Amino acid sequence: MKIQLSTESFASAAVDVLAVGVRFKHVTDDANVRAIDKAMGGVLVPQLKDHEFKGGEGKTFSMLARGRVKAKRVIVIGLGDKPVGPRLHRLLGVIAARHAQSKASLAVLAPDMEADTLRCLSEGLVTGAYKYTRYFTGDRKPKRELKKLLVLGKGKVGAPAREAVAQGQAVGETVNLARDWVNCPPNDLTATVLANAAAEESKKAGIACKVFDKKAIEKLGMPLLMAVNRGSKEEPRFIHMTYAPKLDRGGAKPRKVIFVGKGLTFDSGGLCIKPADGMLTMKMDMAGAATTIATVLAAAKLALPIEVHGIVASTDNMNGSDAYKPGDVYPSRDGKTVEIINTDAEGRLILADALAYARDLEPDYLIDHATLTGACMVALGGFTAGMFSTDDGLRDAYRSAAELSGESFWPLPLDESLRDQLKSQIADLKHTGSRYGGAITAALFLREFVGKTAWAHLDIAGPAWLDKDHGLHPQGGSGFGVTTAVELLRALAAAG
Ligand code: BES
Ligand code: MN
Ligand code: ZN
Repeated sequence: MKIQLSTESFASAAVDVLAVGVRFKHVTDDANVRAIDKAMGGVLVPQLKDHEFKGGEGKTFSMLARGRVKAKRVIVIGLGDKPVGPRLHRLLGVIAARHAQSKASLAVLAPDMEADTLRCLSEGLVTGAYKYTRYFTGDRKPKRELKKLLVLGKGKVGAPAREAVAQGQAVGETVNLARDWVNCPPNDLTATVLANAAAEESKKAGIACKVFDKKAIEKLGMPLLMAVNRGSKEEPRFIHMTYAPKLDRGGAKPRKVIFVGKGLTFDSGGLCIKPADGMLTMKMDMAGAATTIATVLAAAKLALPIEVHGIVASTDNMNGSDAYKPGDVYPSRDGKTVEIINTDAEGRLILADALAYARDLEPDYLIDHATLTGACMVALGGFTAGMFSTDDGLRDAYRSAAELSGESFWPLPLDESLRDQLKSQIADLKHTGSRYGGAITAALFLREFVGKTAWAHLDIAGPAWLDKDHGLHPQGGSGFGVTTAVELLRALAAAG
């Protein structure tokens, strides 16, 4: 499927669904709505009035066109009363595509012809059309898919406009890739399968991807990743992707951003086993890895002028007879020894080794995504990621990026007074603290392994998996974090 940017009139677009966005309380005086109303012989506006459709954010009104325009159905999408920007342009695309999910064709009126508008609208169209259908057979297999996607523009359509649409489509497809990995059942997505997928997609995107198998990880020195893997029959994998564009920076060192992801393909809790309810969705515990891999792929597809690495530590957390135990002490890649307290706090262990590896590559910014703690969900709810950072500039840059993406992040403190909880009587560090402030002690543990690097830790335990559609994100694996990371990289690259 390729989104086409067209200047044909909405009246002649022969599609299943024709979508238009409107501002709150400006529904019936909207120029597009009036034009469609006119083409439909004046039946649209009275219907909108009858249904008291005001255009609140995300609200929709839909009616059959019955031959009055070429489209079979017209749908009016409310954009609310907040300033219209990238987030709402994405939302317009997402809602339009969601409504056309079982249809073959969709056309959306572009709100304007700015490159950012077209990019975000196109991204929304691709992510809104997403559905995970791999395991359906027979009747449940989708009979049709959205094949034709039109963005209807005005005036002259030049190369920058087409490029913006292509960019939005590329990012959207990468977000969907991340969702596929998160949604994939854990019997079919092992660490080995995830690493192979990363390697395959890297090859397609023309970037380097090094995969370390169990033996290579042992040799590389990742004792904490090896410890978590002990209870499993499946081999662990360590993935290092590198997108290094040739940049002329007049002799200055290229800027380097490294993303690190938690790739727990299934978290049973280990010997400190989770109750059945809490275990059910634990295939999603590799969402940080999915976001990381997708972010590097997107940077490459957009040819951003900045060096980006993606590093993933991947294993499952199982209960085999050789499983790691509470009370065990292991060394780390960094050298510090760690006393294991609760085997269900496995994420911070594999991240510790991955962060130490990344730190040694001397990035300008080091950013990890991890479904790390239930405590973060207790603090912020299921839709907001916790954001910790050792660098005010990076925190601000992330906040600005999130404003553009429409994803929700909230800063949490690296509270020094909780640091004592990580003191062990037998080793350098204990790996968990008390229940209170659990997201913070997890972040403080990670901080031990990043040295002086400007670092941000994004705890995405809540928004990585959704029980039902929410805003820009679909039920299941949400692909949360990819668009924000891409907006961050765009801003960093533009800043030179
Ligand atoms: N993967 C979980 C965190 C999680 C919980 C993610 C719910 C998404 C939804 C993580 O490995 C975990 O089990 N954390 C423990 C830490 C505790 C044992 C210190 C938790 O949050 O309970
Ligand atoms: Mn766990
Ligand atoms: Zn986990």
